[in-house]
Amino acid sequence: MIDGMSRPTIALVTGANKGIGFEIAAGLGALGWCVGVGARDQRRREAAVAKLQAAGTDAFGVPLDVTDDASVAAAAELIAGQAGGLDVLINNAAITGNLPQTPTKVEPATVRAVVETNVIGVIRVTNAMLPMLRDSASPRIVNMSSSVGSLALQTAPGSDMGPVPTA
Ligand SMILES: NC(=O)c1ccc[n+]([C@@H]2O[C@H](COP(=O)([O-])OP(=O)(O)OC[C@H]3O[C@@H](n4cnc5c(N)ncnc54)[C@H](OP(=O)(O)O)[C@@H]3O)[C@@H](O)[C@H]2O)c1
Repeated sequence: MIDGMSRPTIALVTGANKGIGFEIAAGLGALGWCVGVGARDQRRREAAVAKLQAAGTDAFGVPLDVTDDASVAAAAELIAGQAGGLDVLINNAAITGNLPQTPTKVEPATVRAVVETNVIGVIRVTNAMLPMLRDSASPRIVNMSSSVGSLALQTAPGSDMGPVPTA
């Protein structure tokens, strides 16, 4: 990956073993980027990396649980050692908790799990990757969100967004 003269743009996508994260990884691969596939489950991570590689993407697996300090620190070390840096971080991993949720019935444990993943996880991963991003000539951080998290949409007259879920 590192030839001493130039290298491809290196991205990390969290929660890249499936869904939107996987498709982002595939899209960045199609641009010729080197993509770290952040995923907590070994089997799902390896399957995603194999599928991306089969499609021509320069992909590598990054064991990553965004709720775990040690996992996130190890992911930063792996990327530094294997890719030699990081240009783009895509904070995609998230959970909804069990839907439907209403503020009067949701379990506190559900709220705690969602916040730990969707909020603290983003801070944890971003802070761990910042030293590499700061060394990049063109660093970018992309935080995935959802219209479900939009207070404006939730409170708009006539909105059919329903009660605010934890996600
Ligand atoms: N789908 C939608 O309609 C929609 C709409 C708006 C925004 N979004 C946003 O798009 C993003 C992806 O959504 P999606 O629909 O693709 O979700 P998804 O199919 O449920 O995928 C979520 C990904 O996050 C991973 N993940 C969850 N907790 C994690 C943790 N603690 N550490 C590491 N990875 C973890 C999952 O891994 P596992 O396979 O191990 O569970 C999975 O790879 C989310 O940020 C979501 O809020 C989605």
